[in-house]
Amino acid sequence: MPIGVKTIEEEKEFLKKQQEAIARGETHQYSIFCEGKIVGGIGLKLEGKKIGELGYFVGKKFHKKGIATEAAKQVLEIARQKGFIGIKATAHPLNVPSRKVLEHTGFNLVGEMEKYMEIRGELQPRVLYWLSLK
Ligand SMILES: CC(C)(COP(=O)(O)OP(=O)(O)OC[C@H]1O[C@@H](n2cnc3c(N)ncnc32)[C@H](O)[C@@H]1OP(=O)(O)O)[C@@H](O)C(=O)NCCC(=O)NCCS
Repeated sequence: MPIGVKTIEEEKEFLKKQQEAIARGETHQYSIFCEGKIVGGIGLKLEGKKIGELGYFVGKKFHKKGIATEAAKQVLEIARQKGFIGIKATAHPLNVPSRKVLEHTGFNLVGEMEKYMEIRGELQPRVLYWLSLK
């Protein structure tokens, strides 16, 4: 199985943990709609009260239509209105679409972390981006 792809059981466990985190107010999650259908999701995981970490996905059939970029713009506007001081985001260095979403919405590249996130027992590199909202 490719790195990052989840089994049904792993996905169920992930969704259960997400629901618990939403109930505790640790994360804000939004569905992305396009022409009346849910085509993806986007969220802000809170780090303290004023900093969030942005994450998103869009279904493959809907890629390259500007959907993630538009969703990110809207969530960043919500974060601004809620008084967040900044948003961080990370991506695999080779994840060009994700990096473009961040660059198109005003994030600045901070640097690369060589071994940062453990996925299926392997430490993966990530690039770190930051958007100051103040
Ligand atoms: C990253 C992701 C959310 C982008 O969604 P999207 O709706 O296709 O993004 P956009 O349409 O707003 O495109 C953003 C940029 O990426 C480019 N892009 C999108 N998909 C691409 C692809 N498969 N190959 C090359 N470029 C691509 C777009 O052309 C656009 O660049 P441009 O404005 O310079 O033309 C989507 O690819 C995805 O869900 N990936 C899997 C999950 C993931 O990686 N999430 C991020 C975790 S860090």
